[in-house]
Amino acid sequence: MIQIYFIQANGAIQEATAVDGQTLLSVARDNGIDGFTAECGGNCRCATCHCYIEPTQAVELFEPSEEEQAMLEFVASPKEAHSRLACQIVVEYFMDGLKVFMPERQF
Ligand code: FES
Repeated sequence: MIQIYFIQANGAIQEATAVDGQTLLSVARDNGIDGFTAECGGNCRCATCHCYIEPTQAVELFEPSEEEQAMLEFVASPKEAHSRLACQIVVEYFMDGLKVFMPERQF
């Protein structure tokens, strides 16, 4: 199992378990994590699954696609260098311990 830590805007930490190949959005849903609206259902069309990856870990992830980068322009909370869309991140074993910070709002 892969452990993922979701940190809400109020500082509350929720631990989630993931399996290799799951999207980060799917991990959140399966573990009852609040904060993703995900209006498009995970198709990179809404930018309401915005999250911030812990900066030192963000550089270890694969680069966002052009499509993801384009959608990141529409996030409701400030876009940062370590902003990502949870529906576009596929979890792999090396991400064990990943810290995912939730934005203040998704729309
Ligand atoms: S769920 Fe819509 S962009 Fe990720």
